[in-house]
Amino acid sequence: MAIVEAIEMTETIDVPETILVTGGAGYIGSHTCVALLEAGYDVVVVDDLSNGSEHAVNEAAGIAGRTIEFHRIDVADRAALDAVFEAHHIDGVIHFAGLKAVGESVVEPLRYFRVNVGTALTLAETMADHGVKRLVFSSSATVYSPQASMPLREDAPNGPTNPYGETKSMIERILVAAGDADPELAVALLRYFNPVGAHESGRIGEDPAGIPNNLMPFVMQVAVGKLAELSIFGDDYDTPDGTCIRDYIHVVDLARGHVAALCRLGEHPGVQTWNLGTGRGTSVLQMLAAAERAVGHPIPHRVVGRRAGDQPVSFADVSKAERELGWRAERTIDNMCADHWEWQRTHPDGFRE
Ligand code: UFG
Repeated sequence: MAIVEAIEMTETIDVPETILVTGGAGYIGSHTCVALLEAGYDVVVVDDLSNGSEHAVNEAAGIAGRTIEFHRIDVADRAALDAVFEAHHIDGVIHFAGLKAVGESVVEPLRYFRVNVGTALTLAETMADHGVKRLVFSSSATVYSPQASMPLREDAPNGPTNPYGETKSMIERILVAAGDADPELAVALLRYFNPVGAHESGRIGEDPAGIPNNLMPFVMQVAVGKLAELSIFGDDYDTPDGTCIRDYIHVVDLARGHVAALCRLGEHPGVQTWNLGTGRGTSVLQMLAAAERAVGHPIPHRVVGRRAGDQPVSFADVSKAERELGWRAERTIDNMCADHWEWQRTHPDGFRE
């Protein structure tokens, strides 16, 4: 074999990096596993399956035609997490694991602080002990103050209004302090807007336990006949059609944003924040109309009173993510509804069938 040819061959035999995904059996986690595998990373998932399914991990691997190492552990279990870091050479971590229901966090604040903040601390300490320096953290637009002006930029004032949002904000501050103490640490704080949709294969999607709190899973469960009608929480807001406006982002676009952030961290240490949204606002009634187009029949609904704590309008300034991550959400509201419907139609009971 010619020398040049041999050199070319060794250059292409790069060992793939291994990414640990906590909460990888959940909604955004499983879609991110697909995006990571498709980008050439190896993936290790840890999840206690409290709000996720091992089927989601298997389907994510199947979509990408690859395998995923799965460990059923609680990330707050330090000994179990240590064992995972010892069993695999972890190059970076994406941290999704945590509790995420706003209303529940108001009723059970101590559990939310214990689980979300405690889990993040255990993970950060374990990473430090094993010399792992790259972390992508699943944060939320809920960290912004309701008084912040639209579109929300990353430097807008913080001021979460519920314990769930407080935990996200607190973890962000913990990671900023950790970054101040360790200049080699590279952390992405990703503030999601409203993730909806499902993988276009229809094989993975959102599988909420019990009655959904969020708009899109509720709409789709009405469409499939599991719930009787959608309650629209208020049509007397100061918006064009009177219903609240949100920045809905397709979960596959969101998942790809994580891969873009991970790549960026490889070149830029420090703690950095990016909004992941589309930069466009859509009202509840516009979302309902798009869902009806996707489903092909009317979706029963009724306007009721406002839901406590809802902001009239929330949407992102996504220019920082576009500029620095080279990433942009591509999928439309109609794509989101069509993909979500395909998942819901083929999995009326989620992964429990
Ligand atoms: N809505 C209804 N009926 C429903 C459910 C929701 O009319 O049955 C309306 C809400 O009033 C709101 C909009 O649909 O106007 C979106 O509500 P979601 O609950 O889907 O989303 P939120 O914007 O309230 O919350 C989301 C995430 C939170 C996160 C928050 C802020 O679910 O985790 O964005 O980023 F904290």
